[in-house]
Amino acid sequence: MKSYPILKTALSLALSTLLFSSCKTAGGPSNTIPIGEFASLTGGTATFGQSVHNGDVLAVDEINAAGGILGKQIDLITEDDQSKTEDAVASVQKLVNADHVIAVLGEVASSRSMAGAPICQAAHVPMITPASTNIDVTKKGDYIFRICYTDPFQGQTMAQFAYNTLGKRRAAILLDVKQDYSVGLDAAFKNTFTFLGGTIVSEQSYSTGDKDFRAALTSIKGANPDVIFVPGYYTEVSLIVRQARELGITVPILGGDGWDSPELTKGAEAQFNNTYFSNHFSTEDPDTTVQLFIKKYQDRYHTVPDAMAALGYDATRLLADAITRAGSTDSVKLRRAIASTKNFPGVTGNITIDAERNASKPITIIKIVNGAFHFAQRIGPNGEPMTPFQP
Ligand code: PHE
Repeated sequence: MKSYPILKTALSLALSTLLFSSCKTAGGPSNTIPIGEFASLTGGTATFGQSVHNGDVLAVDEINAAGGILGKQIDLITEDDQSKTEDAVASVQKLVNADHVIAVLGEVASSRSMAGAPICQAAHVPMITPASTNIDVTKKGDYIFRICYTDPFQGQTMAQFAYNTLGKRRAAILLDVKQDYSVGLDAAFKNTFTFLGGTIVSEQSYSTGDKDFRAALTSIKGANPDVIFVPGYYTEVSLIVRQARELGITVPILGGDGWDSPELTKGAEAQFNNTYFSNHFSTEDPDTTVQLFIKKYQDRYHTVPDAMAALGYDATRLLADAITRAGSTDSVKLRRAIASTKNFPGVTGNITIDAERNASKPITIIKIVNGAFHFAQRIGPNGEPMTPFQP
């Protein structure tokens, strides 16, 4: 675990130890509302953490500039878990036990959200993950929420897309067995693709951090698939698609939201042609909420936001809205307010928290052309096409 920014968190740790060590009230008697964030600012999925952090900070600064919440300013306390599960645990322990945050935002990766969730649940500190899609995340307890869709929905959507829209019948899968996200998405894709009448001709695996995927890809090639599903994170997927094309595999390659990173196609723009992935957001969406967010983000960070940035922004604003509705930072009242969120107007769509503490939302399919992410189709929460497919 790395504190970030180091000075500020070291100071707040020292202060909280001094002032609040015997204080049981979340937040303590201060003029600020401490909200914790754990994110992968460095390590294998660094762009996830950096983007979500940028989105969180943009929202906090806007809210504070407009007067804060309940007459107080938000103090966002950020911990870098370095993309490691063990560090996610340590980060959340510090936020909950030393910083006495009243709520936790994070993580992006499902495995790390699942590692942090039991700590929040035990302390009755509401946790909202902006982006973790694995179905089990919110099953960790009644204080654990997400504002994104789930992997059963995402996997099903991509299987239907492969079978119905692209007309494919023989799918191969290459999954990351070290990530709950990848394992869950693999299962959902398989179920739907075979239910529709398709065949899984090969299923191969790798582990986070691997760099050479040629053996698995060679065996996939030998099975003669007409589509390949790679439900992984961008660092490995970037190498997988390169190596697949080098081996002469030309069929479409599909993935999920873990592909979304400015790093994905760098130096492999041509190899990524004929690939698609599901996401939470598209910069090509003409919706005014989306375009306003893109403008504000670009003005501040001089780069185009990805889905994590938008989800971080939404999660932070939704939390602030719930604190306002609760009229208090009391954990029971805040939990209830988050749980009763209805039609919150997010950049990533309208967000209603359901009885399982998940959000049912539309999904966007992105087509990659010469390294650029283009909007291909939006599908509604019940699988219904909301726009025609743009090939
Ligand atoms: N859904 C991924 C997970 O659960 C994380 C992710 C979200 C990655 C959004 C990219 C964009 O692990």
